Amino acid sequence: MSKSALITGITGQDGSYLTEFLLSQGYEVHGLIRRASTFNTSRIDHLFVDLHEPGARLFLYHGDLSDGTQVSNLIYNIKPDEIYHLGAQSHVRVSFDMPEYTGNITALGTTRLLEAIRKAGMKCKFYQASSSEMFGNTPPPQNEDTPFCPRSPYASAKVYAYWMTINYREGYGLFACNGILFNHESPRRGETFVTRKVTRAIAHILAGKQQYLYLGNLKAKRDWGYAPEYVEAMWLMLQQEKSDDFVTGTGEAHSVKEFVEESFAYAGLDWEKYVRIDPRYFRPTETEVLIADASKVRRRLGWEPKVTFKELVRIMVDADMEALGLEPLGEGRAALARHGLNMLDRALINPTGGMEG
Ligand code: NAP
Ligand code: GDD
Repeated sequence: MSKSALITGITGQDGSYLTEFLLSQGYEVHGLIRRASTFNTSRIDHLFVDLHEPGARLFLYHGDLSDGTQVSNLIYNIKPDEIYHLGAQSHVRVSFDMPEYTGNITALGTTRLLEAIRKAGMKCKFYQASSSEMFGNTPPPQNEDTPFCPRSPYASAKVYAYWMTINYREGYGLFACNGILFNHESPRRGETFVTRKVTRAIAHILAGKQQYLYLGNLKAKRDWGYAPEYVEAMWLMLQQEKSDDFVTGTGEAHSVKEFVEESFAYAGLDWEKYVRIDPRYFRPTETEVLIADASKVRRRLGWEPKVTFKELVRIMVDADMEALGLEPLGEGRAALARHGLNMLDRALINPTGGMEG
């Protein structure tokens, strides 16, 4: 019998890579998607097989994390072996504009799922997408024992969800894990997160479609890894005998400025000619430095990231160039081949540009 998994946030960056990974492992995958007036499944369209075809193993359902009844019905009807709860209002800057909504979805969404599992009396395993943002201003390196000091409505909501996950593990014996993941990026990263905003702007500048790139705080440091590797860590956490919490990251941090310098230099551009600072992108409170001490996940799960910072930059710049019909420079593809990873992802094109973040 193949295993089944339910993924919330299946249309997001991580949800799409996790779906690919689980399908490759023989899983039947069920995903919660939001009803929208435009298509919002572009990251998983390539995985979809018509349900009338034999062998279809990906099933999608409309729902919303604010709707406990629907979430509960889905869990009861699907009875998945594993639930990966990735759905969230995941943008830190936006959480300052929408603190109440962020609390409802990012914090209470987790409670709705945990309650549904408890009430159904099911044995399914639960993964909570916790975040390094929860550490806020606690000095690095950060590990599973580091105290939280959340610096945004998003981080505060994630801290609540983290503790609810532990509460249901301890109180009701649920197999429930927190993956405390540090930033992970890819060509499928949302266009308003800083890495993708930069690599996408470079492609637009090279194509003559954009003149300047407006950014906020260049001093903040992040521990950036390659997203497809991180979804395997999520899966490994749920394959253990006992549920636990794991920090996952590379152990290396770079400033936003370094990311900008590295990406523009790779594309042969002088970043100082194109990057301008717009205080609109500053946050009322900032998380300055995040660096993972990921020794536990390495020791206990054997998980180790392969893609380096420079390689990540090259993978993302190449993909964004390819998405605009430009000839990629090629080092991104070479890095993936070197690590035996899948060939370059097609970056998603958002022709209208959308709102900046
Ligand atoms: P993402 O690309 O922003 O995806 C978020 C997903 O949540 C999307 O599928 C989105 O649906 C869905 N969603 C948002 N609001 C919802 C609602 N009200 N009801 C149902 N679904 C909703 O995020 P990601 O980068 O893949 O991250 C996955 C998870 O890991 C998130 O919980 C994030 O907070 C957490 N995390 C991410 C990182 C990172 O560096 N990427 C690090 C640590 C933790 P739409 O497509 O319809 O918007
Ligand atoms: N988004 C954005 N846009 N960030 C900018 C900009 C800009 O124009 N200019 C500078 N930054 C800085 C932010 O202030 C922050 O310090 C850093 O770049 C990274 O910002 P984001 O890419 O938006 O990611 P994040 O670190 O705030 O949050 C991401 O990682 C968390 C894990 O630590 C998200 O994926 C969260 O969902 C995730 O939990």
